Formats: sequence, structure tokens, C-alpha cells
Amino acid sequence: MQVSTDSRETWGSKLGFVLAAAGSAIGLGNIWRFPYVLGENGGFAFLIIYVACVLLIGIPIMGAELAIGRASRRNPVGAFRELMPKSAWFLVGVVGLITGVIILSYYSVVAGWTVAYLVNSVTGVVTSHANADAAGEAFSSFVSSSGKTVLYHFVFMFLCVFVVYQGVKGGIERYSKILMPTLLALLFLLIFRAVTLPGSGEGLKFLFNPDFSKLNVDVLLMAMGQAFYSLSLGMGVMITYGSYLDRQSNLFENATTVAGLDMGIAILSGIAIFPAVFAMGFEPTAGPGLTFQVLPMVFSALPAGQILAILFFALLTIAAITSAISLLEVMVSFATDELHWTRSRATFIMAALAFILGVPSALSFGVWSDFKIFGLGFFDLSDYLTANILLPVGGIFIAIFAGWAWKRAAVEAELRDGNPQLKFFNIWIWFIRILAPVAVGAILISNLLPKG
Ligand code: PFF
Repeated sequence: MQVSTDSRETWGSKLGFVLAAAGSAIGLGNIWRFPYVLGENGGFAFLIIYVACVLLIGIPIMGAELAIGRASRRNPVGAFRELMPKSAWFLVGVVGLITGVIILSYYSVVAGWTVAYLVNSVTGVVTSHANADAAGEAFSSFVSSSGKTVLYHFVFMFLCVFVVYQGVKGGIERYSKILMPTLLALLFLLIFRAVTLPGSGEGLKFLFNPDFSKLNVDVLLMAMGQAFYSLSLGMGVMITYGSYLDRQSNLFENATTVAGLDMGIAILSGIAIFPAVFAMGFEPTAGPGLTFQVLPMVFSALPAGQILAILFFALLTIAAITSAISLLEVMVSFATDELHWTRSRATFIMAALAFILGVPSALSFGVWSDFKIFGLGFFDLSDYLTANILLPVGGIFIAIFAGWAWKRAAVEAELRDGNPQLKFFNIWIWFIRILAPVAVGAILISNLLPKG
């Protein structure tokens, strides 16, 4: 046991960890999912609840996950086993793994669309649509073509394998350091363009004008689900990434930095996309296709738009990769720690599993679009089930574990390592013990009750 603990890889630098963890958090969830979920759930009122969820629930839970990871130096299943041997807590890690496979499966499908749009930007197809309807039709016809979506889903998964198989420092950290700063630069460029479009004011109004009449339990659940999803919480990514941290790292500072970057990028993506949505005459409630229909139109209208389109879809692909690799890494660390597989074997097999599970999601916009469970297609079901149910439930158990099951002195010692001045421990512990489980639980339960 001791041997595997000592030989565990660690991040090369503090910045390397922050960029890798922010890379996990910042992804399709910010740029693709956040704008359309916000658009479907009433705009500003959603935004406020979302921010509250990140600050009051997200950051405390991220601190807990990092602490669990660093204290145990294990994957999520092994972490609970190590800290609480001979108990059922490891099941939280098992559920986390299952959640991770499901997320990765459909995440890779959307990321595949992104890769396809990248290729089509290079050939000029993406920026050749004359109007919004044409862009919308091009999107629908693309997502309903089985061969293409499955192929690109495969290509994307392959890219993830390429990174993860090179290890934590040599793969995940190395690529995050190059890719994350580039992403930020491009986003600013897009925002500048979006807010200078004629008619863009409507979009900003939509984003920043409160309409609290839209508030209901659905909106609450969506905002909370989005917070867990966007911060990569509730399934063990931060446990796994925390397990590669050294004792000098300040866990709270890291959690706050990562959450701040993530929230900032989500809001910036909203600012990049809503002005364009309104300026181009789309509905903010267009759903998962929003980014893929709106941005091509914006690019078509620009001088040198093709170059921007190429850059944008390259960066969206990159954002997706840095998140997807974190999901894959959770499974790989489980297989290497617990099953003693080699990293390359673990990477290939786990990616293959997620790929196969993703195929029905890829097909659910085309040949399998009639196949519905609880009224949702396979893709929507995978998304709803993971973001709105499994991640929050995982979050509740992680909070209960850190707050009640784990010895208070042990948690405190873990959080103080690298942060001896820690001032907020007494506040944090009550957030974790009471606020997080009660608030998340209440939102989940009220959502199960019949509505109306
Ligand atoms: N946080 C990622 C995003 O916003 O795109 C997606 C994600 C990664 C969700 C890892 C959950 C997760 F565990």
C-alpha cells in the first residue's frame, strides 16, 4: 500500500493544478450548456440563483472533495475506503464513477459536434449560411446523421485517450497549461464582437434584467444542477485531482480560484452569446442547438469570420477536452489504484466503455429520436439524470461524509495543511454539515413532488 501512495504522481506546479482543475470545470458546460439552460429558465433570475449555488454550496463542497482526495491520495472509491474502512461510504465513489461514465458518454457526443463544426469551419461550410433558418437547418441535418455524429464522437474520445494516457503531469497538466489561456483570449474577442452587433442590447437586457416571475422549483433545480455540473462536483473529479496535490497547497484558495474562474467564464459566455442570439433573431430558448446555430451566423456576418469560426470551434473543442479528460481520469485512477491495471490499458478500456454508452445519445437526434424514456430521448435523459439528480445526490453524500462521518479534527487538519491561518473553518463546517445537504435535499425533494 505504502509503495503505491509514495509513487503517486503529483502536479508539477500550483498553476498547473489550477489550470487543470479550471480546465475540468470550464467546458461545454459553460459555453454550450449554461447559455441555453439560462435561456430556457428565464435569464437573470436563473443567473442569481446560479451564483448563489456556486458560492454557498459549490465552493464548500469543492473544498471537501479536494480534502478527501488529498488526505487519501486515492481515486473516489479508494478514497472513501481509505478514510472510512469497512463502511459503505465507498459506494459514494462507485455512484460517482457511474455518473462519470454517463456524463462522458454524452459529453463526447456534443464535443464531437464541436469537432465536426471545426472541420466544417475550415472548409467554409459553417460560415456559408445566408440566414438564421439555414443555420438551424444545417444543424438539425447534421445531428440527425448517424454516421457523422458517431464518427466524430469517436474522434473526440480518441483525443481524450491521447492526453490521459500520457499521465497527470505529462498529459493533463501539460495540455491544460497551453489550452486554457488560449481559450480565455478567444472568448474576449468574441464578446467584443457580440456586444458591438446592432440589436445586441436586447440580449444584455435578457441576461441582466430580473424577471422573478419565472422563478419556480424547476428553475432552482436547473440552477443547482448547473452549478454542480459546471464546477465538476459531486462525482469525484475534484477528489481525484485533489489526490495529486501536495501538502503545501491551500485547498480553499484553490477551490475559490477554480470556482471564480468557472463562474466568470460562464457569465462571459452568456455575454458573448445572448447579444448575438437577439441580434440574429434567434429565440433564447432554442435548447442544445443554441451555440451551434447562433455562432455560425455571427461568424458569417463578420469580416474574416471564417478564421474566427475556426478559432472558436478549435477552442470549444479544447474546452471540451480539458473537461472530458478529467472525467476519464477519474475512471483511469480507479482502474489503476484498485484494479492495478496499467495506465494505458485503463485509459483504452474506460474510454471504450464511455464511447459505447454514448452511441445511443449520438443517435437520439436522428434514427433513435422516437425512443423515449420518461418522455426524454437518450441524450436528454443522460443529461437530466446526471446533472440534476446524480451530481446533487453525490454532493449531498460528500458533504455529509466530510461534515459528519469524517472526524472533525482530521478534516480540520487536512484543510489547515498548506493554509495554517484558515479562518473560516467553523463557518465552512456548518455549510457542509447543514446548509449543503438540507438545501440540495430540499430542492431535489420539492422537484419530485407533483407540480401545479
Ligand atoms: N464541468 C464540465 C463543464 O462545465 O463542461 C463538465 C463536467 C466535467 C461535469 C466533470 C461533471 C464532471 F464531473
